[in-house]
Amino acid sequence: MPGFEVIGKEEEKEILEVLKRKTLFRYEFDEQRQGIYKVEEFEKEFAGYCGVSHALAVSSGTAALRVALAALGIGPGDEVITQGFTFVATWEAIFDAGAIPVFAEIDDTLCLDPADIQKRVSERTKAIIPVHMCGSQAGIVEIMEEADRLNIPVIEDTAQACGGKLKGKALGSFGKMGTFSFDSVKTLTTGEGGMVITNDKDMFIRASEYHDHGHDHDPNVGRGLEKRSFIGLNYRMMELQGALGLAQLKKLDNVILARQRENKLRIKEALAGIDQISFRSIPDPQGDIASFLIFFLPTEEKAKAFNSVLTEEGCPTVYWYDNTWHYYERWEHLLASKTLIRSGYPFRTESGEPRCAYEAASLPKTAKLLSLCLTIPININMEEQIPKILKAIEKAEKAL
Ligand SMILES: Cc1ncc(COP(=O)(O)O)c(C=O)c1O
Repeated sequence: MPGFEVIGKEEEKEILEVLKRKTLFRYEFDEQRQGIYKVEEFEKEFAGYCGVSHALAVSSGTAALRVALAALGIGPGDEVITQGFTFVATWEAIFDAGAIPVFAEIDDTLCLDPADIQKRVSERTKAIIPVHMCGSQAGIVEIMEEADRLNIPVIEDTAQACGGKLKGKALGSFGKMGTFSFDSVKTLTTGEGGMVITNDKDMFIRASEYHDHGHDHDPNVGRGLEKRSFIGLNYRMMELQGALGLAQLKKLDNVILARQRENKLRIKEALAGIDQISFRSIPDPQGDIASFLIFFLPTEEKAKAFNSVLTEEGCPTVYWYDNTWHYYERWEHLLASKTLIRSGYPFRTESGEPRCAYEAASLPKTAKLLSLCLTIPININMEEQIPKILKAIEKAEKAL
């Protein structure tokens, strides 16, 4: 998963170009920067990589979601459908926009179940956010068909699947907008950072202005004289991040993804020999970024038994069912309506009336799937680790 493993001379060179010119801001300083615009260049390269016409770099993956929601005009009175297996940021951004997250089931891709969308739709639904979880594709073609039928825009949360494709088309480029994270543990990292991509020029302009305090980015006047069409906020990326992004993007396919795919294959082959194990459904295995290897055991008891042997034997394993950051039933602050806001907003209205509430048992299909699945995170450099993992798998098989 993590691009930090391959940080080297290329990143140093890019960073030094910025430091030598003392230009940390993505805008202005035209003379001082001598033609070096790292964030802008990163945006262009990233848009080209994803095959879209526009990319906007932002300060984080959470910011990318927030900015995309703002561009779509999502706010109070609206509902946004997303899945109950994702990182908390997906629904935090929805709340932050003033809208209400509505959680839907996942299917055996471990991403949004297209068949569950209709059940969660209301006349207030103004967006759907499927999440390409753990490096692989959601059933995005089916999700888009359903969303188009309902005439609801899609934002693809691609924070965990940068570089992923479906039949050659970049994940994040199917919906109205796609969002990415480049945080410290992501496949392509800039420390903190994110990106919004779109083919819709209007959405891009709205996103770009919103993320920069509403600046209209008029090329004919200085920044101080620019006008504003609406209020915004600051979600800008800085030049050092843009520099890192450029170096990392060059390594994405041939180094990061290539090595992850090799490593995943070696471990998967060992698991494939165990007849009680089945694998997560991946709509297009060639486009999987191979940052996680996810498999199912036939019962929860067997998943737990397999997990404890793997863990004891030094194989890093994630049991998402117990994970407090990614799974609906473990988001205790959400389920208990915890907020810093005095009125109880967003769970209560300004006047203290109930506004939305979340019950633990409302996603039984998600619960069942996660209770059966185990995950081995895949890194770039695993030469020493892999023999240990293969041994652990051999031992764990005996626990079944
Ligand atoms: C699915 C998903 N969405 C959004 C984010 C937020 O990204 P960031 O950490 O850059 O804010 C993450 C981060 O892990 C994520 O996994």
